[in-house]
Amino acid sequence: MYRALAALAIVVGCARPTPAELGDTYLTIDRDAIATARAVTHGHVDVIDGDGEVALVAVPTKDLDALSEQMHEQHHRCGGFVVYDSLDDAELSLHAAVHDGGDRVDYTLDRAGVVGAVLPDVDAANIVATIRELSAMKNRYYRSESGAAASRWLQHKWRGLTTRSDVTVELFDQGYEQKSVILTIPGTTRKNEIVVIGGHLDSIAIGGTSSNAPGADDDASGIATLTEVARVLLAKDFRPARTIKFMAYAAEEVGFRGSQAIVRDFKKRAVIDSVVGALQLDMTNYRGSDRDIWLMSDFTSAAQNTFLSKLIEAYVGATWGVDKCGYACSDHASWNRAGVPASMPFEARMRDGNSKIHSARDTLEVSDNNAAHAVKFARLGAAYAIELAKGELGDDPPASPGHHTPWLALLAGLVVAGAGLRFVSRVA
Ligand code: BES
Ligand code: ZN
Repeated sequence: MYRALAALAIVVGCARPTPAELGDTYLTIDRDAIATARAVTHGHVDVIDGDGEVALVAVPTKDLDALSEQMHEQHHRCGGFVVYDSLDDAELSLHAAVHDGGDRVDYTLDRAGVVGAVLPDVDAANIVATIRELSAMKNRYYRSESGAAASRWLQHKWRGLTTRSDVTVELFDQGYEQKSVILTIPGTTRKNEIVVIGGHLDSIAIGGTSSNAPGADDDASGIATLTEVARVLLAKDFRPARTIKFMAYAAEEVGFRGSQAIVRDFKKRAVIDSVVGALQLDMTNYRGSDRDIWLMSDFTSAAQNTFLSKLIEAYVGATWGVDKCGYACSDHASWNRAGVPASMPFEARMRDGNSKIHSARDTLEVSDNNAAHAVKFARLGAAYAIELAKGELGDDPPASPGHHTPWLALLAGLVVAGAGLRFVSRVA
């Protein structure tokens, strides 16, 4: 049947007007999923270009949601697709000589004092509370009212993390109900250089708008983790040399549309080359494997991944390994394709990942109602922000039990680093 549909597509494809005239969308998709696309669109798939594994196709825009569902259903998420605004964008991405960007910055570990003052404040209870709030929403689907409410809720939560007026919390509108949320801590001496820490705010399950999709692990865990990173940095009045941007992307589950729109905007404003690194926190709270943090090696920067492994060993006190998604599995790919050094520290080996995602069963209960695993990613995220953005704690941080004089902070740093070293684990 697929063959018959394919033949039909070719015949009809020749006679049809161009995709843009028809209201089609360009996307890249794994070749082995083209049959699924054909079935969903009743043959309306134009294969335009493609190398061995990935094809550039045009499909009717109205079928995108159904395609997204079938990709999850039939390919068990191991074959998504990425949506582009124009054929040029898609061609560029397909043929981009991907440069992983890892030579954009010198990676050094010289902020042990600051890291040592901040990391002890990371608190699993806060991560649990945020996951509970987000996963209590019916879904965070990018087109649903509850998905839109999730953006407003998070904007309010992030705004409440500090009274500093130089710290902004903005919604990034891409035309869907749900908006991406961006919290910016402006840099002091290297303001124009940007460090991005992100995760995706949306969730998905069969049924779209009407589904029950708690997305506790995928990816309330990532959003809760980065919220805790922002909280501890701001609670200590951290003043980064480089600008730090926390990003909760909308519409990841339907082809990274939120992060792609942001990358496109950065390109348009010619600031994409100023992004020195992007860290993606997507699924942080399910300990499925024998080691804690898995650095995904595909669609990421080797140099930045090495930097992360050093941070884990020096500061986090966790074990780590290397694995790969095998395809563009999350928003880090949007940055990677734009030449920005990107990384994706993941909760488990790919094959041991949480099997409940994309369903009503992706709940906090699967992680025993705690955030013992995610807390390691929050420590890593905070260490990453500090050592990549550099900078100092403010002169007048709000009183908090963790903050003392700089030399005491340095001592605390050495203790944390020592603890980290005791837990060192290397990939064979
Ligand atoms: N969090 C997942 C990606 C993931 C799942 C990574 C399991 C590792 C293990 C992400 O939200 C997702 O579902 N991505 C899509 C990609 C697609 C929309 C291009 C997927 O994997 O199908
Ligand atoms: Zn997902």
